[in-house]
Amino acid sequence: MKVCVIGNGGREHAIAWRLSISPSVEKVYAVPGSAAMKNCAELVGIDWSHTDHLIRFLKDNKVDLVVVGPEAPLVAGLADVLNDAGIPVFGPSKAAAQLEGSKVFAKDLMKKYNIPTAAYGVFSDADEAKQFIAKTGAPIVVKADGLAAGKGVVVAMTIDEANAAVDDMLSGNRFGEAGSTVVIEEFMEGEEASLLAFVDGKTVVPMIASQDHKRIFDGDKGPNTGGMGTYAPAPVLTEALRDEAMKTILEPMVAAMAKEGMPYVGCLYAGLMITNEGPKVVEFNARFGDPETQVVLPLLDGDLGQIMMACATGTLQSNMVKWKDSSAACVILASKGYPETSSKGDVILGELVQYDTSIIFHSGTRLEGDHYVTNGGRVLGVVGLGKDLRTALDRAYERVDHITFKGMQYRKDIGAKAFK
Ligand code: AMP
Ligand code: GLY
Repeated sequence: MKVCVIGNGGREHAIAWRLSISPSVEKVYAVPGSAAMKNCAELVGIDWSHTDHLIRFLKDNKVDLVVVGPEAPLVAGLADVLNDAGIPVFGPSKAAAQLEGSKVFAKDLMKKYNIPTAAYGVFSDADEAKQFIAKTGAPIVVKADGLAAGKGVVVAMTIDEANAAVDDMLSGNRFGEAGSTVVIEEFMEGEEASLLAFVDGKTVVPMIASQDHKRIFDGDKGPNTGGMGTYAPAPVLTEALRDEAMKTILEPMVAAMAKEGMPYVGCLYAGLMITNEGPKVVEFNARFGDPETQVVLPLLDGDLGQIMMACATGTLQSNMVKWKDSSAACVILASKGYPETSSKGDVILGELVQYDTSIIFHSGTRLEGDHYVTNGGRVLGVVGLGKDLRTALDRAYERVDHITFKGMQYRKDIGAKAFK
């Protein structure tokens, strides 16, 4: 079959690469993709928001399946438009993507269906929000309702900090419309894990558990980012805990979405906190994680094209999804100034080719003449593969040692929690 991937980041590079080596896939297109994706996809210079143009391209080229990478097109309803045109899509409808697009929607649905998550309140008025904070005490978590590129969450250690976050979001208009309502949550103690699942509207098949590193600096210090590195499998989510998360979180959520008349199709991402009371939801995302995808998909031992088509057509079976008995680790190389800003045009030196035991996925690069330059906050995801996590990490960092660009930042403690 012919598959078209929407997006141009590291996650989409990993998806396109994995599809390109799937037996069922004869051709991968990327809209718009990035120069580095040329090794696994044909780049198509169309803007996804020009849907008439996109549909014409998909029909003219007899594309069988569209895989939507990022959240923005999903929240904007791209899956609905393509489905209406008769094109199967791996990715949720606009209604179902609210699970990520609105934190209030997600929290209210979890409450209605008794899915374990932090207690919360919803506010548009700063004074009422502050009264709630005073009553609950710190630490406490303040979140913008809408999409804020992973930056709309403040984990406040003091009441003053929480009040400042409320002012920033509600009065200061920091996130515009996305921050005109805030969710204030109980602080959950524990270790985090990302559990992604393939979903076809009713059947849920989990992927291998991974762990992200959201803060910019070693030791989980500094501001939140989109994610500075990942590894899989993550031992914190034992098989028993994964089964529990499936039974108490993912399966009930997919059943709830169907019952609410918005069946969920695509990758459902549950960000979990492993608390003393078991796994609880930190957030849901309506897409693959970035950089979780970069470590999860290399460990898949099935036909990704077949699995994604089965999700899009309601025919998913658990025996389609198998995992290799090995590990993967991803170290993100970020540009100067990230996460507040980013630096573009810095020349990347070093070997970027792919080996059997290491892969480099491009998050934000651009080809200038015959060399790559930085083109965003997160630049490269350097992935090591191996029989165990130690080997995978060593292979990733060995590659990192041979890559450099001006102002390059990365964490040196990816995976450290797994050895605690
Ligand atoms: P989110 O964008 O909702 O995933 O939040 C970003 C990060 O903030 C998470 O990965 C957690 O590290 C942290 N966080 C969010 N909500 C909570 C919570 N209720 N308790 C503790 N930490 C949280
Ligand atoms: N790595 C976190 C996310 O994709 O939201």
